Amino acid sequence: MDSVPSPSDDCGLVTASPADPDAGISEIAERILAEHARILRLFGALYDLAWRVDPAVSRLTLAQVWSRLADLLVAHTKAEEVCFPTMYGDGAHALAVKEAAAADHNDIREAVEQARLLDAGSARWWQVITAARTACAQHFGSEERTASGAASPATGTGPSPAGSPR
Ligand SMILES: [Fe+2]
Ligand SMILES: [Fe+2]
Repeated sequence: MDSVPSPSDDCGLVTASPADPDAGISEIAERILAEHARILRLFGALYDLAWRVDPAVSRLTLAQVWSRLADLLVAHTKAEEVCFPTMYGDGAHALAVKEAAAADHNDIREAVEQARLLDAGSARWWQVITAARTACAQHFGSEERTASGAASPATGTGPSPAGSPR
């Protein structure tokens, strides 16, 4: 199983500098990439735990890992929204990008709240977790393409709305 980062390790973008809009766009992009990797590792850890032999231990640990992941997802999406002006700038296209990203974030946070109400390890919980993981993977992919375009203006590609194909 991939190691589960400690809470302090989870929060490079999120709590170390939750509202650091003065950070350079390359620095923000690096932090976002690192957090995406942590989030996806934690999702992977949940699936690894599902194979544990002792279901009681597995469910307890699932709940612990999920709690950490849920907190990270909420903090990550909120921190990104604070950084939206730096990440995307102004103008009509930027507004569309920010609205698309915010809509994805709302969906992710709704899934988190839904899963918090369910028993970790239950069939319904796994359905919500699986949907959340898919939504995160899609959103992160779009966001990373946008961030790399914004961090490398020489490419001339410019940002595209999160959630939309380039
Ligand atoms: Fe995002
Ligand atoms: Fe993100």
